[in-house]
Amino acid sequence: METLEDRQGREAQIAQEAISVRDLTKIYGEGEGRVEALAGVSLKVQREEWISIVGPSGSGKSTLMNLLGLLDRPTSGSYVLDGREVSGLKGGEVTRARRDTIGFVFQSYNLLPRESTLKNVELPMVYAGVRGAERKSRAMEALERVGLSNRASHKPPELSGGQKQRVAIARALVNSPAIVLADEPTGNLDTKSGEGILELFGELKAEGTTLIMVTHDTDVAERAERIVEVRDGLIVADDRTHDGNKTDEKTGVAS
Ligand SMILES: Nc1ncnc2c1ncn2[C@@H]1O[C@H](COP(=O)(O)OP(=O)(O)O)[C@@H](O)[C@H]1O
Ligand SMILES: [Mg+2]
Repeated sequence: METLEDRQGREAQIAQEAISVRDLTKIYGEGEGRVEALAGVSLKVQREEWISIVGPSGSGKSTLMNLLGLLDRPTSGSYVLDGREVSGLKGGEVTRARRDTIGFVFQSYNLLPRESTLKNVELPMVYAGVRGAERKSRAMEALERVGLSNRASHKPPELSGGQKQRVAIARALVNSPAIVLADEPTGNLDTKSGEGILELFGELKAEGTTLIMVTHDTDVAERAERIVEVRDGLIVADDRTHDGNKTDEKTGVAS
């Protein structure tokens, strides 16, 4: 039987974890079209950790991110988000858990092209039932945060890639999520715009946000403190030796 101390220890550990998944599998399709995209993934992410997920195309990175972001459900496995088991939640509860905890950033921005930047950023709050005036002021704050308050009335097609991604980040931040998930956030950007996004992530991390980012780019991956490698639906490496954005004391160069 579990002693009180064991239990307290276990609960203290859970309180440290932003995310804990066990034996996650995801199977798409059936018969000839059956694809085992995740074959049993277990992963614990501490609060305020910055993780990169790397791996070849088709290895299951986006599938994992979609499960972590509660955008899709696993075929089997458990998922404890912020200390709470979420794999059994019903539709509306899932939506609320996602809205209250997670901000998601996509490679292709997923902005509504006909709506203004401001409206795009307001959108998650529309679903959260926040009233008009507050919605607008919080959306403006989020746009200021990403340096785009002067583009509030522009529409996405009038913005550069880097600006679009910053709008998408403002949208992800607007409900103050503890966790930000980003699937190839710099994948469509040139190095300089990508750098702007990574600097923003560095600031979020410093403020205590938990960050999980998928990337193809080794230099981008190295910005995190921990690099998790996925292959054929499994985690095959988990490297915690990185010191992320910290500056190398000897050379003074960001490592
Ligand atoms: N909606 C889907 N339906 C069927 N197969 C899918 C679907 N999404 C992804 N897959 C398949 O699952 C595997 C993992 O895909 P994905 O998670 O997108 O990999 P990655 O992001 O690492 O490139 C691939 O073989 C892919 O073709
Ligand atoms: Mg992908």
